[in-house]
Amino acid sequence: MANIIIVGAQWGDEGKGKIVDILSRYADIIARFQGGHNAGHTVHFNNKQYILHAIPTGILHPHKMCIIGNGVVIDPAALIQEIEELTSQGVEISEKNLRISKRAHLIMPYHKTLDLMREEKKGEGKIGTTGRGIGPAYENKVARTGLHIADLLFEEPLRQGLSSNLQEKNFLLEKFFQTSGLSLDELLDQYKSYGDRLKGYLSDTSIIINQAIYEGKNIICEGAQGTMLDIDHGTYPFVTSSNCVSAQACIGLGFGPQFIDGIVGVVKAYTTRVGNGPFPTEIKDEIGEKIRKAGREYGATTGRPRRCGWLDVVVLRHAARVNGLQTIALTKLDVLDSLQSLKICTAYRRKGQIFREFPPELHILQECTPVYEEIDGWQQTTHGIQCYEHLPQKAKNYIDRIRDLLNIDISMISTGYEREKTIFIKNSLLDRWLGIGAD
Ligand code: GDP
Ligand code: IMO
Ligand code: MG
Repeated sequence: MANIIIVGAQWGDEGKGKIVDILSRYADIIARFQGGHNAGHTVHFNNKQYILHAIPTGILHPHKMCIIGNGVVIDPAALIQEIEELTSQGVEISEKNLRISKRAHLIMPYHKTLDLMREEKKGEGKIGTTGRGIGPAYENKVARTGLHIADLLFEEPLRQGLSSNLQEKNFLLEKFFQTSGLSLDELLDQYKSYGDRLKGYLSDTSIIINQAIYEGKNIICEGAQGTMLDIDHGTYPFVTSSNCVSAQACIGLGFGPQFIDGIVGVVKAYTTRVGNGPFPTEIKDEIGEKIRKAGREYGATTGRPRRCGWLDVVVLRHAARVNGLQTIALTKLDVLDSLQSLKICTAYRRKGQIFREFPPELHILQECTPVYEEIDGWQQTTHGIQCYEHLPQKAKNYIDRIRDLLNIDISMISTGYEREKTIFIKNSLLDRWLGIGAD
């Protein structure tokens, strides 16, 4: 058994929720280490759909411990709403199965307003954020003026922290963005009540994690967003404001890298992106629309249509390197079932020059066009297939080509959104780490 990190290898929405959900049964603890309720992780079982935003996907498994780590930013109002919605769907959530790091930073209403106002001011050049206040909350954290969730429990420090933040934020809101500022007393009352509601969940979660490691328990670190949205390694500035790559798991949960046994990249069998920014393999014709429909590519958090494109191996090479990916869970293979032929981008071309690696400079990237390899579509259903041998030969060719181009083990293939519509590859790394008993 092992401690593993699961991260998105593209621009988010790769199907991390489904993969974490399936693997949760092999874990004792499932922990989120970055991002916030900008994430939307969808899981289907028993004909019900669940969308997780800030709470780890493992919460759907009774008796598993879920942790929201110090690296996550939390909007307490949104978190309380998420707890209530999941509870109304029959999910049991209590202090016994959900622990929240006292060090997690707060997303406050001024962060959300600043996020929306900044986007509006950027106009055409906007990032296309989820509008949840994620960027401004991380800014506050790094500026060393943010508030920890534990600050909700102590009135005087909370008043002082809010008051000094409001001096600056209200100035920005009123004078720069020409909108109304916020009242200290109203915020204080409201946030104290959120503190009362959440206090039972708060802990030093690094201690819980390290104790679990000491006891030989298994931890799944659940990434949010994806590598190309990472603040350092993504398509900056069209990124989110956290590190989404595997190394962040240690920082965002407070444990040492020596305890990581495996790193899994979730890869969608094609590419999507929601929000603005470069997307070299985007398909702008009816094939893109066909994929969007077949894959139900609409944002789980904002409902926005996702941009769709061909699989991009340049992106995946970059993701493999910056995360140290050891194995891949390939999702949504079934979405490609009806296509006559498929394209895989193996390199970019710019002014006669070939790039095999993802260029860091945005202006260069914007001038790159994909170099494609065409591959036959299988035009048969793969939906619900649970055994690799039962896949059509041409689907196997597609998977083999991805494996060869990346030289990475593929351990799972998802063929539908339900739990059971999954292939586990025998002798894959994941099989060996978790003892899944693949057929
Ligand atoms: P995440 O943010 O990475 O967890 O991904 P999302 O939940 O935002 O988006 C993935 C979507 O694809 C969800 O609606 C899943 O239910 C769905 N999904 C996951 N795996 C598969 C699959 O293999 N086939 C199909 N058709 N849908 C899938
Ligand atoms: P999951 O975990 C896809 C995108 C936004 C925008 C950019 C910045 O479900 O894969 P932000 O609100 O974070 O400041 O927005 O990042 N984005 C996501 N795209 N999946 C997500 O999460 C995302 N979280 C943020 O669309 O382009
Ligand atoms: Mg999502």
